[in-house]
Amino acid sequence: MPKLKILEINKELSIEPGIPILIGASLQGINFGFVCGGNAACGTCTIVVKEGGENLSPRNSKEAFLAKAMMLNDDQRLGCQTEMGSGDLTVSIPALGRPPSPFSLPFPR
Ligand code: FES
Repeated sequence: MPKLKILEINKELSIEPGIPILIGASLQGINFGFVCGGNAACGTCTIVVKEGGENLSPRNSKEAFLAKAMMLNDDQRLGCQTEMGSGDLTVSIPALGRPPSPFSLPFPR
């Protein structure tokens, strides 16, 4: 199973291909944003892809719309819309430094 390496906390998670990164990480106790409920409307789940971006699918239409509105760079992806690919991925998650949202999933960090 492919690995997701999170630089801020030096942690590796195994996430099945096809699972949105936000969901896969949240289910393993990494809570980094969920203000809009994973509907590509808030941008709080933004991740920065450092390695392995070639293993990801292109943005879907919802992610592309918000990415354009937020003027995201190509290496910035929405964790709620970006599905784990078949290869390993290394990311930075800027939200890990922020206080948890009251709308976040109730999983501990
Ligand atoms: S959780 Fe709101 S855009 Fe991803």
